[in-house]
Amino acid sequence: MKTITVNASKKYNVIISSDLGGLTAFLAPLIKGDKVAVITDDTVSKLYASEVISALKGYEVSVLTVKSGEDSKNATNFIYLANELARLGFSRTSTVIALGGGVIGDLAGLVSATFMRGITLIQIPTTLLSMVDSSVGGKTAIDLDAGKNLLGVFYQPNGVYVSLSFLKTLPQREIVCGLGEITKYAFIDGRITPQDISEKNYEKLIEKSLEIKRDIVERDEKESGDRMLLNFGHTVGHAIEKLYNYTLSHGECVIMGMYSALNVSKALGYLSENGYNSGVKLLNETGVMPCNDFSKDQILSVMKKDKKGDGDSVNFVVTTGFGSSKPVKIKYEKLIEII
Ligand code: NAD
Ligand code: GLY
Repeated sequence: MKTITVNASKKYNVIISSDLGGLTAFLAPLIKGDKVAVITDDTVSKLYASEVISALKGYEVSVLTVKSGEDSKNATNFIYLANELARLGFSRTSTVIALGGGVIGDLAGLVSATFMRGITLIQIPTTLLSMVDSSVGGKTAIDLDAGKNLLGVFYQPNGVYVSLSFLKTLPQREIVCGLGEITKYAFIDGRITPQDISEKNYEKLIEKSLEIKRDIVERDEKESGDRMLLNFGHTVGHAIEKLYNYTLSHGECVIMGMYSALNVSKALGYLSENGYNSGVKLLNETGVMPCNDFSKDQILSVMKKDKKGDGDSVNFVVTTGFGSSKPVKIKYEKLIEII
């Protein structure tokens, strides 16, 4: 068992364990009142709700379930879950446990952040992507018709329990999504190398990813500087995800977005031909190929609604090679020429 402590506006521990054996002891000091809601999706609920409930003996536990998939990160579910907490008599001392992937983490996170202006939130991530990225760092959000993650707040969890045991049932396609975010870390911080990724030692990859994320979040919790690096591949990735109407997963679209980020980095002179080829090779290894399904105008019109936009420009993260990236301001017109 390994513990990573995040010292942000809240100080909290992230446990990385092989199983759920330590969950009861981990939760005991974090849960203040009697009432606990486990917010999850219908796939994860069937697989793991009972195991998590059995670690919560002595509490009044309710399981609140939404449909699995990105479509659930919406305002209807947000209000539904908040109303359920109110109906169940939840108070400021009650606790929400987000049991699932990034969709559940983001949705339950926003509910916890706003219900009675903020109640205890525990993240139990069940996908590789949520283990290495979304469960830590405090970004919560739901999607609006105009685009992804447009309604949300920063709200750090009170604790995160990563159990590698969840990976046993995770479909290969979802493993690839997690590898996409891990590959993102390789472009922004040298602590993860292409060699590490090819070894596929998930425990090691999760630990290194979370150490990188912890350091960035501690330096820049609200994304006014360094945290932008974590958006490598996401500017175009989010636009593609919306254009596919969320039929492809977030991780796959981020991988496609990283191909575009490599093109931009090379075209603007930040990345050498060799660096570009090595980057493309690493992305190819995920099995996800670049996206050619949309016109430049389609991508541009969605991209302009993204949070990263600033007038006629966007904060776009370019890489100069593995382990080194930086945000640069690029005019949309210029960006679209290159992509
Ligand atoms: P997801 O939550 O939709 O999970 C993917 C699929 O895997 C779902 O169908 C789910 O039911 C299923 N699943 C989950 N755990 C399982 C398990 N152990 N076994 C079998 N099936 C399982 O998707 P995701 O990739 O985890 O997260 C993507 C979301 O995360 C996006 O909405 C993205 O915007 C968000 N995100 C947020 C942050 C952040 O910092 N808050 C960072 C990255 C991504
Ligand atoms: N996944 C991007 C961030 O946490 O900032």
